[in-house]
Amino acid sequence: RPDLNRAPQGDFMRPSMRTRTRSNSKTNGVGVQVEDTRICVVMVGLPARGKSLIAQKVVRYLAWLSITAKCFNVGSYRRTNTPNPSASFFDVSNKEGERLRMAAAEAAVNDMCKWFRSPNNLIAILDATNSTKARRRWIKDRCDAEGIETLFVESKCDDEELIMSNIKEVKTTSPDYVGQDPEVAAQDFRERIRMYERVYETLDEDEADMTYCKIINVGSQVIINRIQDYLQSRVVYYLMNLHIKPRSIWISRHGESNYNLSGQIGGDADLSSRGQLYAKALPDLVSKSAGDRNLTVWTSTLKRTGQTARYLPYEKLSWKALDELDSGVCDGLTYAEIEKQYPQDFRARDEDKYNYRYLGGESYRDVVIRLEPIIMELERSENILIVTHQAVLRCIYAYFMGSDQERSPWMEVPLHCLIRLTPRAYGTQEERMFADVPAVSTWREKGSKAVHADTPTASAKASPMIKPQSKGEAIA
Ligand code: ATP
Ligand code: F6P
Repeated sequence: RPDLNRAPQGDFMRPSMRTRTRSNSKTNGVGVQVEDTRICVVMVGLPARGKSLIAQKVVRYLAWLSITAKCFNVGSYRRTNTPNPSASFFDVSNKEGERLRMAAAEAAVNDMCKWFRSPNNLIAILDATNSTKARRRWIKDRCDAEGIETLFVESKCDDEELIMSNIKEVKTTSPDYVGQDPEVAAQDFRERIRMYERVYETLDEDEADMTYCKIINVGSQVIINRIQDYLQSRVVYYLMNLHIKPRSIWISRHGESNYNLSGQIGGDADLSSRGQLYAKALPDLVSKSAGDRNLTVWTSTLKRTGQTARYLPYEKLSWKALDELDSGVCDGLTYAEIEKQYPQDFRARDEDKYNYRYLGGESYRDVVIRLEPIIMELERSENILIVTHQAVLRCIYAYFMGSDQERSPWMEVPLHCLIRLTPRAYGTQEERMFADVPAVSTWREKGSKAVHADTPTASAKASPMIKPQSKGEAIA
């Protein structure tokens, strides 16, 4: 039963939203339409301004949206000729240093131009300080000659305390300082920044012909100039939502539902009696991990997530975008029934689970697209607890962990388990906590029919296994 109120299964690039149309638009395989635009995002800024972190996040975000992006870090090219430079290497009066740094930039730009020759490669991030107008003009000219658009992204920050903490957090452990005392490394890095400060030129009106976005003091002010098309504006909008305040995101599936017990998918069932126990156990589980932080709870609009969040003492918001993957004509069936009634579909889903769209329903790819506003809102927010569904949780998890599309739809996400995700400088830390309430496993292995059977949760290892009920026996 297709639900017409569902979020549209539209393409990421909606033609009506393009500001500049090209005849040469194409799809990236399964209906997500992209323009033939290739963009080089050129990072700009002094060292320790978060350029690499921003670059990596943009690549992960775009990959999640099936847009092929790659980061070219000039520092790693430079390390091939100068692995452990001291600050004096970056002194502009050091001619040999200048030559080697230019050689590294040239090698990165050459590789990037080569990479763009493959038709699916759309966005490259050139991660370097690119701190002078001359260097930026050179990059723009190289890209113009190859028909590649440029989007300069400057991170400008004069918060000394933040810069020192960045140096301590990430720079003292950089490959540039392997085996060195962190205090000495931090001092040398401070000196390196001074070398760059001597020549650094911020983006200004002299570069008014360029497309740029200037992020000042982690987004307290953002200046944008000549943003030309939809893809550029998506990237800029994403950048505007980023913050670096320490926070975590907690995610949990709803408690076990009556449909989980009977092995049926989809629907809008109530929690089983064990699911209700999980709802009662959840506030404690959360407070053990979150302490006295003030969280906001996001649920879907389906009963089982609201029932699970019922006892949580926080503000709650329900989102249609968090509803479970719509299984269309298969809604309410068990996997065994789907295999019997729709054998071809069952096989097709196993072959390409990410792209398979249920008849009258959705695919994982569709879910990712409707989750984009959720991700944007999550990036803007601080501590959030999301109570949602198996497929949706897999998609959110894939965004934070950078999981690939082939594997993420098969990921095991047990019921009655709270996952804490904590964004760190270059990745996300994960922690899983189980409630002391057993539940069935709804995980289906590729090629199997998956009778939903009990899974031993952390403590349920000691609990008696409960046989899954047949549909007729489901607890009301
Ligand atoms: P380098 O030029 O040496 O490569 P970088 O500018 O790439 O330095 P990163 O290595 O990305 O700097 O620094 C990561 C640190 O910057 C993290 O501690 C992160 O919290 C912080 N950070 C992230 N975004 C910003 C920002 N917009 N302004 C200042 N610091 C930021
Ligand atoms: O079985 C629970 C459930 O949330 C179903 O409602 C949903 O169709 C399914 O999981 C999604 O998981 P998969 O994509 O592995 O079938």
